[in-house]
Amino acid sequence: MCFNPNVTTLVLNKIWLDCDPVRPGHDDACAILLATSLPSDINLVGLSTVHGNASGECTLSNAIRLIHMFSPQHDALVVHPGAPKPLIRPSRADPEIHGPDGLGGVVGLPPLNHPVILSRLESSHTANAVEGLAAAAKLAISSGYKIHLVATGPLTNLALFISVYPYLLSAFEEVCFMGGGVGIGNRGAVAEFNILCDPEAAQIVVDAPIRKTMIPLNVTHKAIVTETLQRRLLNECSERGLSNTTTPLRHTLHSIVSYFAASYKSVFGFNDGPPLHDALTIAYVARPELFRATRYRVDVDCISTLGTGQTVVDAFNYRDYDDSWGPTGKNVLVAEGIDVPAFFELFFECVDRCDTVSRLNLAA
Ligand code: BDR
Ligand code: CA
Repeated sequence: MCFNPNVTTLVLNKIWLDCDPVRPGHDDACAILLATSLPSDINLVGLSTVHGNASGECTLSNAIRLIHMFSPQHDALVVHPGAPKPLIRPSRADPEIHGPDGLGGVVGLPPLNHPVILSRLESSHTANAVEGLAAAAKLAISSGYKIHLVATGPLTNLALFISVYPYLLSAFEEVCFMGGGVGIGNRGAVAEFNILCDPEAAQIVVDAPIRKTMIPLNVTHKAIVTETLQRRLLNECSERGLSNTTTPLRHTLHSIVSYFAASYKSVFGFNDGPPLHDALTIAYVARPELFRATRYRVDVDCISTLGTGQTVVDAFNYRDYDDSWGPTGKNVLVAEGIDVPAFFELFFECVDRCDTVSRLNLAA
């Protein structure tokens, strides 16, 4: 697999993850797992949530429940609630794919009224996503490091941040988002869900004068959790000496993946397993060499009847573009290929690492 020369491998990566608020759904959960379980030279420094369904509090609390169970080392991390709705349009829901509460079918997470979850929920309201991002950006600038800004839901929070704090963009190495498709969609013939939820926000983000990488459906649909991989998730035990063949963490992850598999089978006819869309963004930050990407001009269709939400990729450079990442340039690196086996090795390495610390296992 080609190494993308436009991407620098950094010695120390810091990640801010902005995920679907109302549904850090099933693949968002796997993105959180990766972001909290990568090797120690890659740190999650911020987590925020964004709209996507009716009850905004629901996915904020899902994100808190997930990080609480996955990662005791992130106990002090505040989860920042973001925009409860798109910039202009009404909110969309996707209960068909993720269940009414955004994490349908998932076993093992603590209840919403668990005292620690309630306390983390309370502290989450001290700063919203945009305020949290601004504080993290100021700290990064004053300390001399950069943050990878990763989005796995609609791009509303990022658009608000870019609009309010354009002068803080220099704190970020790049923006990497899961979303869009090149000629394909999953919530319209050419519209992918995250972009369709808030196309105006997506256009603001792709026009921001900073390097952006888009991980579109064309690539995420290659990262299928096949039945063999689902079995590997259940059967491989950690080295903690548990007497059964699996661990509670693995059981919970398996419940996440199998619910997602059933949704993808019934809604999209994916018979081989579900695509782990969102987890690819974190893999991209950690291991860019696993991806092949090309820089193009990308715009978002915000007005047409058939194509609203489409990421329009000028693959043959029909217009003239300059070298900027902004409105006049080839503004987005579009991922075009992924080393799928290496991605899943990274995923299972993270599961192994999480197995040694997860509260799900400690409670067993
Ligand atoms: C995207 O929409 C959601 O269903 C997933 O979490 C992912 O972010 C895929 O189109
Ligand atoms: Ca998502």
